[in-house]
Amino acid sequence: RSAGIVGAPFSKGQVRARGQAPRALVRCAVKDYGNLTFEDMSRDEPLGLLKSVRAVGAANQKLSQAVRAVKEDGHTAVVLGGDHSLAIGSIHGHSAAVGELSVVWVDAHADINTPLTTCTGNIHGQPVSYLLHELRSKVPVLPNFSWLKPCVSAADVVFIGLRDVDPAEHYILKMLGVKTFSMSEVDQLGVARVMEETCDYLSARGKKPIHLSYDIDAIDPSVAPATGTPVVGGLTYREGVYITEHLCQTGLLSAVDLVEVNPLRGQTEEDVRSTVSTAIDLLLGCFGRVREGNHLPDYRLP
Ligand code: ARG
Ligand code: MN
Ligand code: MN
Ligand code: MN
Repeated sequence: RSAGIVGAPFSKGQVRARGQAPRALVRCAVKDYGNLTFEDMSRDEPLGLLKSVRAVGAANQKLSQAVRAVKEDGHTAVVLGGDHSLAIGSIHGHSAAVGELSVVWVDAHADINTPLTTCTGNIHGQPVSYLLHELRSKVPVLPNFSWLKPCVSAADVVFIGLRDVDPAEHYILKMLGVKTFSMSEVDQLGVARVMEETCDYLSARGKKPIHLSYDIDAIDPSVAPATGTPVVGGLTYREGVYITEHLCQTGLLSAVDLVEVNPLRGQTEEDVRSTVSTAIDLLLGCFGRVREGNHLPDYRLP
């Protein structure tokens, strides 16, 4: 399987310092589509609470086209963020190329606030609401977002790793009956059963291509501290990697976002190293590296 990698160093979906994650992550590149560049919007005043709306809209339109092109070239798309607002363009472009998707959202957060429920105004806390058919009437059309049409059904989404969900988000998840495995369920069932149930649940609606949107803050901050909104009590390194190994085995993994790695958020060099190396191992898990070891099919003993 080949990877088509798009660097998306975009961070206006949140307000922390802006780091340069993507190039630090590319070591397993197969086809590198390079970094996208995003214009600085000169006039991008907040819309109510909402920050950088026009920049986020324009960046995601560009990313959507890039991901669509990577899929049309026949690769598994890899989007290296940048913040999680990028999932809007990534999932939209993926769906534009292949049709209906299953989405696995691995995150401490649900990122399903609407522009009207957000308490922070940061769009990285909202991408899921922009993408769901069911929330269409709850998300106003925003400047530079008129290109966006909802393309995912709530029943095709599974969340894993939740532990910091706003009240309005919790209401929406319950209202729509979205399948979630919070850290409580990971504790209760173990990650192996969580992944079995995730795949059974999704495949019951047909074997659709899987979009994995992996927020590094799903992993415990003791392992991956260099991120903007760390939350204690996260996935271990082993649980985090297991998720990628299991999804790879389905043969359906079609696009991966790895977001919210922010080198500027590390307190030390070691914080950054550990966060980046965890992110790389997650990506390698998505592309078939297993912990028992690997060898190429044509390997011969010397
Ligand atoms: N729920 C909070 C918000 O809406 C935090 C979101 C954090 N999202 C993220 N992609 N790290 O602002
Ligand atoms: Mn998060
Ligand atoms: Mn499975
Ligand atoms: Mn997120």
